[in-house]
Amino acid sequence: MSDAWTLRYQGFDPEREGLCEALCALGNGYLATRAAASEAQADGVHYPGTYLAGLYDRGVTRLAGHTVENEDLVNAPNWLPLTFRAAGGAWFAGRAEEIVAHEIAVDMRRGVFTRHSRIRDEAGRITVLTQRRLVHMAFPHLAAMETTLVPENWSGLLEVRSAVDGGVRNTGVARYRGLADRHLAVRRKHSAVPGTVVLEAETLASKVRIAAAARTRLTAGGDPADIRGWSDDTRIGCDLTVPAAPGRGIVVEKIAAVYTGRDPAIGDPVRAAVQAATTAGDFEELLRSHTRRWAELWSRCRLDLGHTGKAEQAVRLYTFHILQTLTAHTADLDAGVPARGLHGEAYRGHVFWDELFVLPYLNLRLPEVGRGLLRYRHRRLDAARRAARADGLRGAMFPWQSGGDGREETPDTHLNPRSGRWLPDHSHLQRHVGSAIAYNVWQYYQATGDHAYFAAEGAELIVEIARFWADLARFDPVLRRYRIHGVMGPDEYHDAYPWAERPGLDDNAYTNVMASWVLRTAGRALELLPEYRRAELADKLRLDADEPARWEHVSRKLRVCFHDGVVSQFHRYDELAELDWGAYRKRYGDIRRLDRILEAEGDSPNRYRVSKQADVLMLAYLFPPAELAGLFAHLGYDVDTDAFDRTMRYYLRRTAHGSTLSAVVHAWVLARSDRAASGRFLREALASDVYDVQGGTTAEGIHLGAMAGCLDLLSRGYPGLEVRDDVLVLDPVLPPDVGPLEFHLRYRDHWGVRVHVSHRGASVSLGHGQSTPIRIRVGTEERVVEAGGSRRVALPPRA
Ligand code: BGC
Repeated sequence: MSDAWTLRYQGFDPEREGLCEALCALGNGYLATRAAASEAQADGVHYPGTYLAGLYDRGVTRLAGHTVENEDLVNAPNWLPLTFRAAGGAWFAGRAEEIVAHEIAVDMRRGVFTRHSRIRDEAGRITVLTQRRLVHMAFPHLAAMETTLVPENWSGLLEVRSAVDGGVRNTGVARYRGLADRHLAVRRKHSAVPGTVVLEAETLASKVRIAAAARTRLTAGGDPADIRGWSDDTRIGCDLTVPAAPGRGIVVEKIAAVYTGRDPAIGDPVRAAVQAATTAGDFEELLRSHTRRWAELWSRCRLDLGHTGKAEQAVRLYTFHILQTLTAHTADLDAGVPARGLHGEAYRGHVFWDELFVLPYLNLRLPEVGRGLLRYRHRRLDAARRAARADGLRGAMFPWQSGGDGREETPDTHLNPRSGRWLPDHSHLQRHVGSAIAYNVWQYYQATGDHAYFAAEGAELIVEIARFWADLARFDPVLRRYRIHGVMGPDEYHDAYPWAERPGLDDNAYTNVMASWVLRTAGRALELLPEYRRAELADKLRLDADEPARWEHVSRKLRVCFHDGVVSQFHRYDELAELDWGAYRKRYGDIRRLDRILEAEGDSPNRYRVSKQADVLMLAYLFPPAELAGLFAHLGYDVDTDAFDRTMRYYLRRTAHGSTLSAVVHAWVLARSDRAASGRFLREALASDVYDVQGGTTAEGIHLGAMAGCLDLLSRGYPGLEVRDDVLVLDPVLPPDVGPLEFHLRYRDHWGVRVHVSHRGASVSLGHGQSTPIRIRVGTEERVVEAGGSRRVALPPRA
């Protein structure tokens, strides 16, 4: 039975296997392993993948006379391999015809994957295999698997084969085939003691040593008649032979340890891996410490929906995967927010702007993780400065896709699988990624009050991003406005004017309003610094005395266009044609990827008023209504709530939701104007990975931004929760069928702040302790609440 804590799949369906592997993957923020069957290899159905946060490698391919370079999140040596056979038979290989019955499940509460299979070999011998697996949440280098084999109708010798495989490649995404996919060279393999093996591989270009050790032993069911080590070019393993009898369980335990040459507190990764694998406790012991850490995490990240069912399960699943991808262990590494988790190879493990959807969630639960992710950006500030300088600009231009060293990793071309054509990829023109970083720094600072971080790194990031905007904006003397030319907004369906030869659009409203916000915030950031630190920073950045005044000036004069009483996505948007949505829906059914459909027809989305995802509307996602109206007013435009509502309805009718982020943003921005529609988008967002609504993309990795965005919607969007100038504000609005919501936060030095929001009221309760009192505003009333105190407010009924 599935329940809210368990995701379960019954039967073996080769078509569904990739999805199961991604959704049942286990991780701890240092490493994650897809839920591939232990006997499987990459064969088109199964795809074993283990990824280490922040570990990239570059590859070069010669293609039709030119060189293509790609950087991948490396598929690390596979620690899973474990299979069996009746002596003299064939090794079990996980083929559909060998599997009589099959069920896998992941217990999210404890972070344990289980599998139950009945397997028949070519001689009709049936064996029942039960497996439990974990990737340890407290000891980030450890993973463990316990396999029980019970012969049903045979006796004789049973052989178990366990190995570590360094021959894996990055072949998880069909669209990337033909491009460099080999990233590992196996350097060394040896067996430390019988049953314990270690393999050392090195990434080809980044030259990172990775050691994977595994200890395999029989823990019940008899004594092995024989343990024999073996190795081939890329694998090292051991075979255990055990006498088997019907109904008698043979239990084999495999404890794996993974280290890299970049890990702290080690001498060398091979030694560290062997030591960890040989000294780790047994499966049960590891399970206990692992479960304990999960219990802590679940308590800190508790979010109850008030009712059971699919939505509750999705909320647990999304929390589970965020907590497996980004943890305190990640904060110790040099790693960002990989758009597709550590769960697959889509987008090559790159980091986009998706942290905009993830950090606000982490800031109020695991702030040290949020800070760690911001530090990933700060370490790449020099690379962003170089990129700006190469374009003749001051400040920092962050790449749209970021990986190892912070250079632009967006490929030049991408494949439209529908037409089979390779097309130029201009998405690197999404310069707005810098504003997302600045926004995140500010949000982190607001939520945590972490002055030390802000003074050391945060303010510098904001200032350098602001400088870039101030230099990129060009003054148009006729319009008497600053303009930003040749960029793309978040809506990737528009990368050029249909009549233009060059890519890029002008005066993208989202880009310009965000730039204005960053420019203003940079001035504020400097003011907030202690004078001493401000002077240091000004000196380091060679800040001209008149720069802050110029930022302020540009922030008031950036151009936003309007048409038909709504904000224009970009200049001349109104000259684009309307699409016959009805006809396309009728012809194609699912038109989320309208870009691919149109291109395959020899047409282009650039010609139409169609959006892949929220673009202008992102502004209402990031800023509450009054603040947004204030941003426009600062720019000298009168965009009140009515005008923005009109804008919302206008783009809503013209959006295909080709990104999973789109439903989250729409649910958020509609929360106050159309609660029922908001609830519908929430349901869609909660279904997106569970039902793989983007048609096959989840198998290539989860959509981390959409997952975190859903949780953030439930715990900040609907409760109207914000931190403004040291006040925790609640202004709830729940869709009709959502709630009551109850969740925990960590706010400043208060742990376990309990928030309860229903249609009738809201309350905030603080735990006991020495923590300083905090200011809480619910509705219009503000109060100071002491540790141990609470604040309860009844809400007027909504229409
Ligand atoms: C979306 C981007 C997003 C990227 C990675 C794309 O499909 O359009 O907004 O950053 O996926 O998640």
